[in-house]
Amino acid sequence: MTNNHQSLAGDNLSARTIKEGLKTVCFGQEIKYLAATESTNLVAKELAREGGKEGTLVITDYQTQGKGRLERRWWSPPGENLLFSLIFRPPFEINQTFRLTVLSSLAVAEAVRQESSLEALIKWPNDIYIKRKKVSGILSELGVKDEQLQYVIVGIGINVNSSPSAHPEIKDVATSMSVELGQSFSRLKLLAVILELIERYYHALKGGDFDSLREAWDSLSLIKGKMVKVVSRGAVEEGIAESFDEDGFLILKDYSGKRKRIISADVSLSLV
Ligand code: BTN
Repeated sequence: MTNNHQSLAGDNLSARTIKEGLKTVCFGQEIKYLAATESTNLVAKELAREGGKEGTLVITDYQTQGKGRLERRWWSPPGENLLFSLIFRPPFEINQTFRLTVLSSLAVAEAVRQESSLEALIKWPNDIYIKRKKVSGILSELGVKDEQLQYVIVGIGINVNSSPSAHPEIKDVATSMSVELGQSFSRLKLLAVILELIERYYHALKGGDFDSLREAWDSLSLIKGKMVKVVSRGAVEEGIAESFDEDGFLILKDYSGKRKRIISADVSLSLV
């Protein structure tokens, strides 16, 4: 497999290089690196079913069947971006698992900001944007048995060094950190910062502090206070986006001031 960014010092992904720069105690301490795989979410799910530990990181340089939300594909060329999944075993009710997407999207947006001068923002429920283009997406999948939550897989794709303009399907809607700033970024450094932030926020969340997370998330929201269009099962609604509620629903205020709760499952959302 070609890796266009081998010249970037220390940017070759492997269990060893990832661990070298990592200051976590749980997230990324168990690593499965694959040069190529179907989808890291699939591999992480298999590991979780076999008892894989919380914090296990599955990471690859290339996915042949990268999955996005709403049955979409996640496109990413070999060796340029971050494609990884994490196993969580949260002590939560099933309806609270959206909180992991909240903390993960916050961690990604903050890490992108920290590692570049880019003003990354979060678009509910789980996309990271730079200006009006998507730079990262998150796909969370739950493992449930006898109505009990067994595990959650949080899969994260970040366009770090790729050129989405080369791909017709996403060229108008996607960007990457390197396209925005005309320089390459270390995937290893970005990954380390994300894992450290995820670990910190997860610890806070398990300690009962969801409000600080929501506040931080709101402050980086791309849509809060803006007019948005929500398309759900063919029906279109417009309104002002507010925050999300305790169950993760987006609150949309329509022209008459009436509030409506929007569930993320089947929604596509755009700024008007
Ligand atoms: C979306 O924006 O629709 C979510 C995209 C999630 C992509 C990541 S890449 C790593 C992990 N493995 C997958 O197959 N999907 C997620």
